[in-house]
Amino acid sequence: MSGVELNALGDMSVDGFSGELYFPTIVFNIAVSGKEALNDYLLELIYAERERDQKGIERSNFRKLGSWHSHNNLHLEEAYKPLSDRVHQAGRRISRQLGYHPDKHLQIGTMWSIINAPGSSNKSHIHPGSHWSGVYYVHTPESAGDIEFTDPRTSHVMNQPSFEPRKQRSKENWTKVRFTPKAGKMLIFPSWLYHSVDPNMSDKTGKDGERAIISFNLSQVG
Ligand SMILES: [Fe+2]
Repeated sequence: MSGVELNALGDMSVDGFSGELYFPTIVFNIAVSGKEALNDYLLELIYAERERDQKGIERSNFRKLGSWHSHNNLHLEEAYKPLSDRVHQAGRRISRQLGYHPDKHLQIGTMWSIINAPGSSNKSHIHPGSHWSGVYYVHTPESAGDIEFTDPRTSHVMNQPSFEPRKQRSKENWTKVRFTPKAGKMLIFPSWLYHSVDPNMSDKTGKDGERAIISFNLSQVG
């Protein structure tokens, strides 16, 4: 191609340039109403359950480090209805927002509580067999351990381009996202999204230093 013809192409700028987000990963962040009374009530239930079943079960928790995990059927107990109702309410909202079939609904399949004593944490895991999973924070001392979600696209994580130094990456380029737990907050996320919980670094002693949560799985039924 000659020089004359190249010049005829102009300055090589583009006429159209757009970028769209596809395959997004949604984490719903929900502020629960009446959290003070609800948390006092739930905390009593959680500790009564630990008293009844001191061993608990081993899942993502580290029993050896003082972490306790209840059985998985708390939602079948009438006493947990105040929380179950709020979870189902959130599930209805998610179904509406995502355009799920109106004759079907997201229903709790399993629900459990976890107490993380100072020094304990939860290893990275997913929740197979359900559509959405969530956590409700009941008691969260300072430095109780963030929850961290990691980008499920391993190809994105393994081959990262370089970014401008001393500048925070834009959200589109994050490979992990962290939330600091706050009593009264509920997070609901896809069950396939890997997540872990940092060690509880609270310097408080006894129950004051323990992080207490209730977690659940939701599946579409109907
Ligand atoms: Fe989990």
